[in-house]
Amino acid sequence: MKFKRTTVTSALPYANGPVHIGHLAGVYVPADIYVRYLRLKGEEVLFVGGSDEHGVPITIKARNEGVSPQDIVDKFHKLIKNAFEDFGIKFDVYSRTTSKTHYEVASDIFKKLYDNGKFIEQTSEQYYDTGAKQFLADRYISGKCPHCDNENAYGDQCEKCGTSLNPTDLIEPKSTISGSVPVMRETKHWYLPLDQHEAWLREWILKDHKEWKSNVYGQCKSWLDMGLQPRAVSRDLDWGIPVPVEGAEGKVLYVWFDAPIGYISNTKELCEAEPEKYGNWETWWKDPETRLIHFIGKDNIVFHCIVFPSVLKAEGSYILPDNVPANEFLNLEGDKISTSRNWAVWLHEYLGDFPGKQDVLRYVLTANAPETKDNDFTWKDFQARNNNELVAVYGNFINRALVLTQKYFGGKVPALGELNDYDKQTLADFADVKTQVEALLDTFHFRDAQKEAMNLARIGNKYLAETEPWKLAKTDMTRVATILNISLQLAANLSIAFEPFLPFSSDKLRKMLNLNSFEWAQLGRMDLLAEGHQLNTPELLFEKIEDEQVEAQIQKLHSTKTANESAATPKVPEVKENIAFEEFGKLDIRVATVIECTKVPKADKLLNFRLDDGMGGRTILSGIAQFYPNPEELVGSQVLFIANFAPRKLCGIDSEGMILSAENPDGTLTLIRPTEKLANGSIVV
Ligand code: MF3
Ligand code: ZN
Repeated sequence: MKFKRTTVTSALPYANGPVHIGHLAGVYVPADIYVRYLRLKGEEVLFVGGSDEHGVPITIKARNEGVSPQDIVDKFHKLIKNAFEDFGIKFDVYSRTTSKTHYEVASDIFKKLYDNGKFIEQTSEQYYDTGAKQFLADRYISGKCPHCDNENAYGDQCEKCGTSLNPTDLIEPKSTISGSVPVMRETKHWYLPLDQHEAWLREWILKDHKEWKSNVYGQCKSWLDMGLQPRAVSRDLDWGIPVPVEGAEGKVLYVWFDAPIGYISNTKELCEAEPEKYGNWETWWKDPETRLIHFIGKDNIVFHCIVFPSVLKAEGSYILPDNVPANEFLNLEGDKISTSRNWAVWLHEYLGDFPGKQDVLRYVLTANAPETKDNDFTWKDFQARNNNELVAVYGNFINRALVLTQKYFGGKVPALGELNDYDKQTLADFADVKTQVEALLDTFHFRDAQKEAMNLARIGNKYLAETEPWKLAKTDMTRVATILNISLQLAANLSIAFEPFLPFSSDKLRKMLNLNSFEWAQLGRMDLLAEGHQLNTPELLFEKIEDEQVEAQIQKLHSTKTANESAATPKVPEVKENIAFEEFGKLDIRVATVIECTKVPKADKLLNFRLDDGMGGRTILSGIAQFYPNPEELVGSQVLFIANFAPRKLCGIDSEGMILSAENPDGTLTLIRPTEKLANGSIVV
C-alpha cells in the first residue's frame, strides 16, 4: 500500500532520571534521523515524544528524596526535554503522561474496552502493609533471596545474583515502607486477555511483517511460541490514572497500559493547539493511509509489538504499527550502562564538557549504533572517529574547498570549464549515492546510510588531493576554477546528505556556502551553486579532540565507579583540603523565607528570589531554574543563603548573596531547606 503520511513515535522516557547516550543511540538519534529525512523529502510526518511519568520507580524515588512524585516528574521532564532540544532531536510535540489530555484519552480507551467486555476480572492475593494501609508493589517488598541468601533482595529481583523473583519467593519478606511484615490480602484487577489475541497477532506479525528487523521479529516469535497469558492492566497504587470504573478505588492504570497511549494523547494535544498546522489528530492515528512507526529499545519490544497493538485492536478504530525498528543496547567502555552505578555518559554533562559538539556525539552514536547486536561506546573510539573521520575527511575537504575559493576567487563560485576523465569519474561515483542512502534509510539502516554519506566526503577529499589545484594556480586558472566548482557542488551536496545525521554541521556548512533552501531531491545534482554566487567566510566545521580531553572522561567514569563500588552509595566527591575554623567563621550563612520566586527572562538557568531575611529583605539570583519548573511553589519555603558576598549584577539585576543547594549524584541541584520553621535572619553556626 502507498502511505500518505507517517506518524513516528519514540519511546517516552521515564521522568525519574536524566537521559544518557544509550537512550540517544538506541532510540532518539535514529528516530530523529528518520524524521529529518522524511521532512527533507517533503513528506507529511509527525514526530511524537514525551515523558512517561507514572510507575512505581517514580514513587520510590520521591519517597527516598522526601518529595512528591509530581516534584520528581516536573524536574526530570524539564531536564530531559531540554537535553533533547540541545541535541537537535526535533519533536513536533514533547508532552507528558500527567497532562490533562492524557488522563482523558487513557481513561476513555480503558472505559471503552471495559464497556465492550475486552478485559477479564481476576482476584489474586497480594502483599499488603496493614500499617501503611496499602498494597505493596514488588519493589516495595524486600527480604532474603532464596538463591544466594542476600538479605536485601526485592520482590521482583535480587540485585546480587540477578535472579528475577516473585514477592512470594522472598524469605522473611518486609515492607520497605514501614519495615513491618506484610500480610496476604485479596485484590481485584483487570486483565487484557492476550491469549485471545494470539491468533491474529501470529498472522499479523509472523506472516504479514516478515520484513521487520530480525531481532524484533525473533523476539515476537518467541513470545508467541511460548503462548501469551492475560496481563494485568491495573495496579494498587496511589500514583497514576485512576481506573475509571466503579469499585476501583485506590487502583490506577498500569503504567505500561497508559504510557503508549501517551503517543496518542500528545498528538491530540498538539493538533488541538495548532489545528491549521497539524490537522485533526485522528488522521495521524486512525487513517489507514497513515504509516505508524515506533522507535524503541529492545526491552520495549513486547509492549509495542504485542501488548499495545492488542489494546488498539480491541479498541477497534486505530491503525497498527507498520514497523517497530527496535535497537539492541549500547554498552559503555565494555560494561553495561547503569544509572545506579553512575556508569553512564549523561547528555547534560556531555555538553558541559564538549560545548557545541552535539554532532560529534550524534555521529559516533550512529556509527556505533546497536542496530543488530549490543555495541560498545568508548571514548577512544569517540576521539578517533572525530579526528580521523569528521576532521580529517569531511572537515578537511570542506575547509580546503572553501579556503581555496576564497584565496583564488574572492569567495565567488568559479566557472565550470571542460571536464576531464577524472572529473567525470568522480561525478559518476557521486551520482549513485542518493539512491543508496535512500534505500538504507528507508529500511532503517542508519549506520550504513551515514557511512555512505561519509563516503561522499571521502570522494571529495580524494578529488582535491589528486587534482591538487593549489599547484595549478600558477599555470592554469581555468582548470582550478573547474576543480573548485566541482568541489563546491560536492560540498553543497554534503550539507544535504548529512542533514539528517549532523544537523548542526549542515546548518553551519550551509551558512558558509550562503545557501538557504535545500531539499533531498537536490541531492546528486551538480548545479546547486551558480557561477558567481558569493560564499561566506569559511570556518572550521570540526575541531580535533585532544588526548587529555578523552582521558579526563575516562578518569571521570572510573572514579565515580570506584567510589560507588567501595561505598555502595552514589558517587561522593572527595573532601576538600582542610581549612581553619576561622575561615568558616568568615562565612555568614543565614535563614530566609522566599516571598517571591520567578524566572529571570531570557536566562535559562536563573531564578530571581525575593527573600525575607529579617533585615528588610534582599534579592538573590540562583542558577537552579531547570530544577524548579514551577518556581512559584517555592514561595513560603525557607532557604539558607550566604549573606556577606559583595552584590553582583546578573542580567541587569543586583544579586545580594548566594542561596545554598546540594548537588545530587546525577548533577541536579536541590535547595537546602530547614525542616523546622526558623526566625528569618538566624545565623547558621
Ligand atoms: N518509559 C519506558 C522505558 O523507558 C518506555 C515507555 S514507551 C511507551 O522503558 F510506549 F510506553 F511510551
Ligand atoms: Zn540472590
